[in-house]
Amino acid sequence: MLVTFERVKKRFGEKVVYDDLSLEIRRGETVTILGGSGSGKSVLLKMLNGLIPADSGRIAFDGQDITKLTEPELVGVRRRIAYLFQGAALFDSLDVGENVAYGLREQYWRTMNEAAIRERVQRSLLAVGLPGIERMKPSDLSGGMKKRVGLARTLALEPEVMLYDEPTTGLDPVNTARINRLILGIRDRLGLTSLVVTHEMSTAFSVSDRIVMVGKGRVLLEGPPELFRTTPDPAVRAFIDGQAPAEERLEDLLQS
Ligand SMILES: Nc1ncnc2c1ncn2[C@@H]1O[C@H](COP(=O)(O)OP(=O)(O)O)[C@@H](O)[C@H]1O
Ligand SMILES: [Mg+2]
Repeated sequence: MLVTFERVKKRFGEKVVYDDLSLEIRRGETVTILGGSGSGKSVLLKMLNGLIPADSGRIAFDGQDITKLTEPELVGVRRRIAYLFQGAALFDSLDVGENVAYGLREQYWRTMNEAAIRERVQRSLLAVGLPGIERMKPSDLSGGMKKRVGLARTLALEPEVMLYDEPTTGLDPVNTARINRLILGIRDRLGLTSLVVTHEMSTAFSVSDRIVMVGKGRVLLEGPPELFRTTPDPAVRAFIDGQAPAEERLEDLLQS
């Protein structure tokens, strides 16, 4: 297993986000995380990336328990596990090239030379189908292009694991489909392991090897997309057939 969450607990004050999260992810797998709003999807990604500490339990990445690492050691983990933030915005004052270089400059401060940075930026923009737009400004780009540049910025780190937090939110169906194809292409060409948080069932069904639904502080259901297409479980059906219900509604359904 590349990633293992073992009996992880996490709360913020009175709010228990996870009271028993256990989950395993194999190298090369693309796993989609589903769940109602506020169910802890972003917290799951942030715990794996070391941005939010777990209260207890074990989170192993490549055999190493990341809950035991110091902040400087976590910087190394964040190179290997890159996080595409929910609603990640570009810096309007920087051109596209500098936006894509941003994470590299942060992670490889003074250790990566300009030519190497330029080359990585070029390669990352090519990977998202936007070659040669380094000198454009974010204000010149459509919403869909901005998302792809944000994706290029994360890819530039050449991680082993990509964490996508709602990568298609706010996009029309054409751009959603384009991002879905990119996620699949990244998996197939680069062999990356990916965790994708999404509200969009089209994304979940088209990119996943496996789907994991979280709620009530743990994993509620996991399995191949086929299981989610056919499950009679009312809470899961409501989620898939309708829009994602709010957490309270989900709780009602689970108790009924
Ligand atoms: N840094 C934080 N401080 C306090 N509460 C937080 C923090 N991050 C998340 N939460 C709370 O944890 C719960 C899960 O959040 P989140 O993982 O962002 O939900 P979602 O599934 O919508 O991504 C929410 O109730 C949220 O308010
Ligand atoms: Mg979120």
